[in-house]
Amino acid sequence: MGKPSGPRTPAVADLKTGHDLTSVLPMTAEIRDGRLWIGGVDTVELAREAGTALYVMDEHTIRTRLAEYVKWTRYHWKDVDVVYAGKAFLSLAMIKIVAEEDCCLLCASGGELAYAVRAGFPMDRVQMHGNNKTPAELGECLDARIGRVVVDNFEEMERLSAMAAERGVTQKVLVRVTPGVEADTHDFIMTGAEDSKFGFGLNQGLAMEAVKRAIELPGIEFDGLHMHIGSQIFALHSFAKAIEVIVEFMCRIERETGVAVRMLDVGGGLGVAYGAPDEPSTVKDFGKVVVDGIKEECEKHGIAVPRMAVEPGRSIVANAGVTLYTVGSVKEIPGIRTYVAVDGGMSDNIRTSLYDAHYEALIANKADKPRDMVASVAGKHCESGDIVVNDAPLQSPEPGDVLCVCATGAYCQSMASNYNKQVRPGVVFVRDGEWRWSVRRETYDDLMHTDVG
Ligand code: LLP
Repeated sequence: MGKPSGPRTPAVADLKTGHDLTSVLPMTAEIRDGRLWIGGVDTVELAREAGTALYVMDEHTIRTRLAEYVKWTRYHWKDVDVVYAGKAFLSLAMIKIVAEEDCCLLCASGGELAYAVRAGFPMDRVQMHGNNKTPAELGECLDARIGRVVVDNFEEMERLSAMAAERGVTQKVLVRVTPGVEADTHDFIMTGAEDSKFGFGLNQGLAMEAVKRAIELPGIEFDGLHMHIGSQIFALHSFAKAIEVIVEFMCRIERETGVAVRMLDVGGGLGVAYGAPDEPSTVKDFGKVVVDGIKEECEKHGIAVPRMAVEPGRSIVANAGVTLYTVGSVKEIPGIRTYVAVDGGMSDNIRTSLYDAHYEALIANKADKPRDMVASVAGKHCESGDIVVNDAPLQSPEPGDVLCVCATGAYCQSMASNYNKQVRPGVVFVRDGEWRWSVRRETYDDLMHTDVG
């Protein structure tokens, strides 16, 4: 494991499309001696030392992305919170990085909140959301004295109010609104539309009723509004449209209740490159459209510009991560397809079977060779749909090769399962030529840890 060398050599040539893999790999990826290095670490050597399957996270990319969000949102307005959405990838080491980069943390469950508590994350910088927080989870939020709870329905609001009043505390809340905007993304991850299990719809008057309830109820303090229109969004105009709608709503709230909306949280959703040719919008453009957009709309309506929050998850970690596997066998079905079988699969990356997600792959120990054939990367599970990469360019694979699937830093480890009693891979962080475990690989004992029978 040497120190990072000078300029990186990014090109993993793809003879079919002419694209290299720079857009999907971590920022520190480079080719040295024919091998893929990340964070100054030789991934082939890493696979040998740490074993496969293995998630590798590049700390430099994560920190840079968080810092970019802070920079390009606060460039336009002084009061913007960058709230990292922990559901994309969460570990204690990750939470410490989020804290060090001056960001906040979005939790989606009591479990994620427990991680934040264990990591010693500042609780006033924690937000909790979810469409059905249990009474126990609401209690955990109150006990931990977290910054804000995003309330999603009337029952929850009443419950939280009663529980807070009983404890003699006041909990700041944001009211989650579904602005009725169709985000330009996969149907399954479109959450801002009217027909959604999340939040209060604007068009039927529910959102206004919810705000009025939040203002009246004891134990909770109405702090502002929250929305999240979807995920993996490429077209920024979806955000612009939603902002128009929600700022108009802010204006109506002030008119009808006399209460100012102090905070506007526009959620996450910025898309990332999974395919080499993908060109998602930049964080800089996102900052301009969202933060400047809110400012402009507020000025148009003559209301004060609120404190703002953005909640990126995927765009912080997706391209920071790769998964390393060892090739077990190569099955060529003449005239049909070549399957490359690896020592993982849908248990460590469910996104291909679930969303038909597209990934790029390369052979880490042949990284300087052209990807001159097409193959599908199959997992080891008892299911034909257990495919990690569908028909993608690859260097000629052989058993024993280290196969790297790119852009797996978001929603892979966090959605991993123990299907077929497969142990889940560990997570290592790489930085400046060193690697360290963040989450160790599971053992068979871990599998049976909770089995009391
Ligand atoms: N805020 C809220 C309220 C959310 O529900 C989400 C994601 C985010 C922020 C972060 O969105 P991001 O920046 O990561 O797009 N499992 C799916 C993604 C589900 C996203 C759910 N909510 C996938 O693998 O594509």
